[in-house]
Amino acid sequence: MKKIISLVRIIVIVLIAWGIMEWTYKSETWAILSEPLVWVWLGIVLLFAIAIEICVSALRNILFLALKPEAQERFLLNKKLKEQKRIQWFRNIYLKLVDSTPVEEEEEIILDHNYDGIKELDNNLPPWWIYGFYATIVFGIIYMIRFHVFDDYTQDEEYLMEVAEAQIAIEEYKKTAKDLIDVNTVVLLTEASDLTAGSNIFVANCVACHKDDGGGGIGPNLTDEYWINGGGIKNVFRTISEGGRDGKGMVAWKQTLKPSEMAQVASYVVSLSGTSPAEPKAPEGEIWIDPDSPNVIVPEEETHEQLMDSLNDEMTKTEILIDNPTDN
Ligand code: HEC
Repeated sequence: MKKIISLVRIIVIVLIAWGIMEWTYKSETWAILSEPLVWVWLGIVLLFAIAIEICVSALRNILFLALKPEAQERFLLNKKLKEQKRIQWFRNIYLKLVDSTPVEEEEEIILDHNYDGIKELDNNLPPWWIYGFYATIVFGIIYMIRFHVFDDYTQDEEYLMEVAEAQIAIEEYKKTAKDLIDVNTVVLLTEASDLTAGSNIFVANCVACHKDDGGGGIGPNLTDEYWINGGGIKNVFRTISEGGRDGKGMVAWKQTLKPSEMAQVASYVVSLSGTSPAEPKAPEGEIWIDPDSPNVIVPEEETHEQLMDSLNDEMTKTEILIDNPTDN
């Protein structure tokens, strides 16, 4: 009995120490999973708790041994009484909850019918059951009035409400979870910290083929306005994530880099546009015009008349030449 109580005390102390740590740890994950030091700390708490238990029980023993024999007897008696009281308290609660008649008094509640020697006792229903039953009745009445008399809300409405709540929660989550970015949601990052991070990722992974200034080598020039797989943050992000054309050497980086890292390095690549690398590689691909950009002036097609005009001009020039052959 004593040992079990000690054990429970130790477990509770360790759990409290753990709880405090998780509570003060400001992060989305569990401290115990991401911080190995937590285990060390909990181990120390555990050792201390055990040591304290041992000390206290040793102290008790010593104090007990220091008592005179009759005092020792009194102490033991006292302890026994206390223990009995405690057990009695639990027993009483149990008896109250079941409210069954003790076996010795069953004679009083036996019913006077008898089927082949099987007799029936008229025990009270256990109070825990009865009160549970009353509770369901109260619940049922409130439920009926709320939903069938006053039509609070229907199951369909409840469903829609919960979906809306979940939607809000998802939006909140997406705001904090950077790595949910994909090619549809990625936006150009302009913070200096993001671009520095992107530059570091570029230096660590990409310079072998694209050169440290993006001028190009095995891979194409990333600073010009010509793009093989499309420019702009979304296309660049997709090329980095999924790789270039088959067999060209640009692998898919999504296994190596996190989405947030790909967004950073993609933003860095976009920021290289217009810089002048030391040895620029000749342009590959086509000039890329951002269809969403408001400043893009799409060249108007020449109308038929303009075309005829310029043709006429050309012809007059030729005629003049033919008329004055000496000019040549
Ligand atoms: C092994 C060499 C190699 C490495 C390393 C490499 N690339 Fe490439 N990269 C290429 C090649 C080759 C292409 C051309 C792909 C194609 O033709 O489709 C390319 C294309 C690209 C493009 C598209 C260019 C365009 O014109 O459409 C981008 C953007 C790009 N790489 C960025 C990166 C980034 C960022 C990294 C580092 C995370 C990286 N690359 C690492 C070889 C490489």
